[in-house]
Amino acid sequence: MLIVSSISEMQSLTSRLPRPVVLVPTMGALHSGHLSLVRRAKREAREGGATVTSIFVNPKQFGPNEDYKRYPRTYERDCELLREIGCDIDVAPEASAMYFADSTTTVVETELSALLCGASRPGHFSGVCTVVSKFFHIVQPRIAVFGQKDYQQFLILQRMVRDLNFSVQVISEPTVREPDGLALSSRNAYLTPAERAQAPVIHQTLLQTEKLIRTHQIGFGEIENWMASNISSAKLSKVDYVAAVDPGTLESKKSLPLLLACAVYFGSTRLIDNRLIT
Ligand code: PAJ
Repeated sequence: MLIVSSISEMQSLTSRLPRPVVLVPTMGALHSGHLSLVRRAKREAREGGATVTSIFVNPKQFGPNEDYKRYPRTYERDCELLREIGCDIDVAPEASAMYFADSTTTVVETELSALLCGASRPGHFSGVCTVVSKFFHIVQPRIAVFGQKDYQQFLILQRMVRDLNFSVQVISEPTVREPDGLALSSRNAYLTPAERAQAPVIHQTLLQTEKLIRTHQIGFGEIENWMASNISSAKLSKVDYVAAVDPGTLESKKSLPLLLACAVYFGSTRLIDNRLIT
């Protein structure tokens, strides 16, 4: 696997890569969820193409009181995992190389970004759109793979490539989970043993809500209250938001298909998850 830290080096390499180029953007601290995206990328690239990952903890998508400084950085191990799985290129620039100190240009999606996680994390999705745009320009992939765990992120990036005419197909892969249902996340490492023991309540609540909807035991107007109170039965949890929304617009809706989504704090650790009910 080729490791490239210089942006200009990556840009000159880009034009010489075999096609199709398939990109998996990440912030590192790789786990099996990330690796399932890389496997999908390899399938999409087939024999002839190139699989590229980016590892970059993007300062622009963290709020001032968020975990940018303590976000886990496990670069050596990440490279080993990517090498083992057969990734072709890893691009990992320094933050100082990625952003000019006086840069004044950002990419902002204005509708979907204001809802759900965007309401709790102002500026987050513009940080994501800006950095993903930059990697799309640097790597020029034909396809980019994202995880359904960050459903809103996936939807916003699909909107961004449509609105700004990027020649990139944005595709997604299902959420990879621990055996007890907790969605894999680099942030799970922050959880204390007691918090970790309660965190599966998130996925259990999503599954139970789906069952109640399918068996007509709950009205559409009651879903959000029910989800919030069920999650709150785990004493260490604090609900940030729960939502039952249209999977295309993220607006409230009282019929199927529905996206059930939530963000829950355990201590200072914010976990998200979702389930699509069709
Ligand atoms: P990061 O949190 O590192 O996630 C990188 C990719 O892995 C995202 O597409 C995310 O949805 C996916 N992913 C995370 N956990 C997953 C799981 N349990 N199962 C399947 N896929 C999972 O998301 C970001 O980084 C950043 O916002 C980024 C897009 C890289 C821009 O900085």
